[in-house]
This record gives sequence, C-alpha cells and structure tokens, in this order.
Amino acid sequence: MPSHHHAIPNRRARAIRAIAENSAPPTDAGVSVQPSSASAQPSSAPTQSAAVPALTDDAAVLGLMDLDWVDTAFERLTSAFASDREVLHAVACKAVPLPSLLSRYAEMGAGCEVASPGELELALSAGFAPERIVFDSPAKTWAELNRAVNLGVSINVDNFDELARLDTILAERNNATATTASARIGVRINPQSGTGLIGALSTATQTSKFGIGLADPGAREALIEAYLARPWLNQVHVHSGSQGISLDKAAVGIRAAVDLAEEINSRASARRITRIDIGGGLSVNFDGEDITPTFADYRAVLEEQVPGLFDFDIVTEFGRALLAKAGTVLTRVEYAKTTGGRRIAMTQAGVQVATRTAYAPNDWPLRILPFTPDGNPKTAEAADSEIVPTDVAGPACFSGDLLARDRMLPRLDAGDLVAVPETGAYYFSNPFSYNLLPRVPIFGYRTAPDGSTEFFLIRRGQTIAEVLAEAGETELRALSPEHRDFAAEPIAQGS
Ligand SMILES: Cc1ncc(COP(=O)(O)O)c(C=O)c1O
Repeated sequence: MPSHHHAIPNRRARAIRAIAENSAPPTDAGVSVQPSSASAQPSSAPTQSAAVPALTDDAAVLGLMDLDWVDTAFERLTSAFASDREVLHAVACKAVPLPSLLSRYAEMGAGCEVASPGELELALSAGFAPERIVFDSPAKTWAELNRAVNLGVSINVDNFDELARLDTILAERNNATATTASARIGVRINPQSGTGLIGALSTATQTSKFGIGLADPGAREALIEAYLARPWLNQVHVHSGSQGISLDKAAVGIRAAVDLAEEINSRASARRITRIDIGGGLSVNFDGEDITPTFADYRAVLEEQVPGLFDFDIVTEFGRALLAKAGTVLTRVEYAKTTGGRRIAMTQAGVQVATRTAYAPNDWPLRILPFTPDGNPKTAEAADSEIVPTDVAGPACFSGDLLARDRMLPRLDAGDLVAVPETGAYYFSNPFSYNLLPRVPIFGYRTAPDGSTEFFLIRRGQTIAEVLAEAGETELRALSPEHRDFAAEPIAQGS
C-alpha cells in the first residue's frame, strides 16, 4: 500500500495544517496545553462555520469531511446518470448517518435510502420528503411497514411473506390503489449472479439473505405472478454491486432486474413497472487518490450492457462511492515504541473509528499518511529518517486494534500526526463503542473564497458522561435477590 504524499489534495493538506497549527502537542509535564482559540462549539455566526478544531486530550481523534468533495461527487453522479426519465439518487443513510450531512444531500436534491426505523426518522428530520425516501430493510416489522405506508415512502419488499404483510396493511386501508398511488413499491431480487471480493458484503450470492433468489426453482414465475396480481407493485429493486465487485458483474444483476420488469410489463400488457432501483455498491479505490471506477464509467457499462434500463425511471442508492474519499481520520501519535523490531505508533484512533479494518484488515486496508507535529507531510527524506515497518495502533484492549500492520512508513515519533483517508463512509460516522470509547467529533471543511479553510461542526465528540448514560441504566439495579434492598425495583417485572 503506498503512503506517498505527492497526490494529496491541497484541500485536505490545508485543513490538516490548520488543525496542526491550532493544536498543542502534549507537554513533558503530561498536561496537554489546550490551544486558546480551539473550540468544538458551533459558532452562532450566520455561516454556521466553527472555529478551527484542535487535537487535544479531549479530542485526540477527529473525523474530517471535505464538503467540497461531497458536493462535487454528487454533481458528478447527477450528470453521469442524466436521463430523460426521472432519476432519484438516494444516498445510503447507513454510510453516513449524520444529520447535517444528510440535510446537505436533501438541499442538493438527493433522496435517502434507509434500512431501519432510526434511519427512516433521521431522513425525515434531515429534510427529505417522503417520496424521496426509499425504505429497504430486509426484516421489516409490522410497525415499520405501517409507518412506511402511512408516510408514503418508497418500499422495497424483501420476500413473499413481507409482501403478504403489505397485502394485509393495504387491505385494512381498504383502498390500496389510492393509498399507494404516489408510493413506489417494489420487490428486491437476488440475481444470484456471484460474489464480490469481500464475502460478507456480497449481496448477489446463491444463498444471500437479501431479496428473492430469481434462479431458485419456480421463484421467477412466482414473483411475476405476484407482480401481476398486485397493480400497486411498480418497481423492481436490485443491489448487486459491493466493494470489489466489477462493473460488468454489477451490470449482470441490473440486467436481471430490467429483464424481469420488461417481462412483467409485457405479460400485463401495461407499463406496470415504471422504475428500477439499481442500489449502490460502486467500488472505491482505497489505494490512492484516483477515483476509479467513476460514476461515468458505470453509466457507460450500463448503457452498453443494459440499455433498456434507461427506458425506466431510476433510483440509485450509493454510499461509499459518494463519501469514502471525502473523509479523513486525523489523530496524533501519543507514544511511539519499538517492540520485536516493529515500530509501533500508539494513537487514540482504532476500532471505534475503523471497525471494519480492525476486524477484517485484509478486506479493508487503509492508507496511512504521516505528518509532522506542525502539519507538514512527514517523508523519510524530510525527516532524515528511515522507512521502517510500522504498526499504527489504536487505544482498545485487543491486539487487532490496528489501523495498519507492518506498513513501511517514515519512522513515527510521539507528537507526529497520522491521517487516514478514504474514511468518509462506514468509518467514523459508524462508531463502535468497544471499551466505552467515545464517538469522535466530526468536522466538515470547505475552501473559502479567500483560499482559507472553513470548518463546520457535524457531530460533537461524546463526553464521558454521555458514554456512561449510553452504557446502561444509570440508576443501579439489584440483579440478585439477596441484594434486593440495595436498590429500587427491577426494571421489568416478570409474570
Ligand atoms: C440495499 C442497499 N443499498 C445501498 C447500499 C449502499 O452501498 P454502497 O455504500 O456500497 O454504495 C447498501 C449497502 O449495504 C445496501 O445494502
């Protein structure tokens, strides 16, 4: 994995330098000097920009989002998929469940793909109109289905039994056609077209838990009959891409969805299916700054292999490809030591911001960009040091808690900074609370017209008091009969 600096976008480099200049390294006395101008509080200024963040003992890890990159990626997606028909780009909430960022997408005209009750309510509160929300969970409860139908959000049904629940809900309303007149309701198919590089993320395998397997005996015909019997079903959903999967393979899944839609329409002698939801799953390059493949590459492959897709309205549900390259984890080296010949940089950034990498390091390798304490790229030449095999370690108490293992890096010392790019989706925005590690603060940044970097608070860092409140009931409960008088009533009374 290369760790060169030459292609780091200037915006990121400038943001890191501004933060470094505002951050004081831990002093020898062991007391971190807090920079006076640093603040994690949102400013009340009309621009809503925040003060330059600082790395401090209370905020030893920062999540950074390049908001110009976020905007540009969405514009590129929109222009790549321009069509005469309606196109809804529903950003995958799971990739970035952050209210202000989602609301930026709502402002830009995006939709939002959600897959849990929390994500559904978050999308609503971030400003997405119900008709721009697509609800995709594979195990929807009755309550979730009722809520989705009441709101009129688009629903993708996972299986025949869920379809039967919808029949019941719509029958209770006694007016299925009117109730769902504006809602787009579809069924998720599994084209069973093969695996990507990463097994756990592959959605179109023979036995995937998602959707209805089209190649299973009798399944395709049963599904077509289910569509023909329900005029309110007007969409077909497939999410056959995933990290590491080729564009050609993703196109095979989308072709299966389009073929199915065309067959339903021809057997119904009507344009029952008006929209294809092609899901997300465009791969991201984690090896360097280049964006490959691009949304335009994907469009070109689809244009060639599934031209019929563009006769339908389209929904996309991209997450990683819209966001990963906008995000950077920034932390400082708290200690540096050498054990068994391995340089080990001890930091506060680990499994809580890089869960996938800590547990599946071979599937999710991340680049490491070292900086000096003053925020300049640390190269071996500049630092007059050697390149040495290095582990970049996190603070959690298990040995796999590493951002990188055995990586050739300029020798890192305490006080150096470490930036970890490509972490804008499924990393610091999806924290893991192992060891009760707090959620780290997240700041967006943009380049102001005068060339300076403006920061925006996206999510405050969690305080220890908040961590404790989340750990469980703060009022202690007796958990054994002998100690009943130790505390009040148990939470739930068994009967
Ligand atoms: C149904 C569905 N849509 C969209 C996405 C987003 O995928 P990605 O972030 O790879 O674009 C996922 C990822 O899990 C998904 O399951």
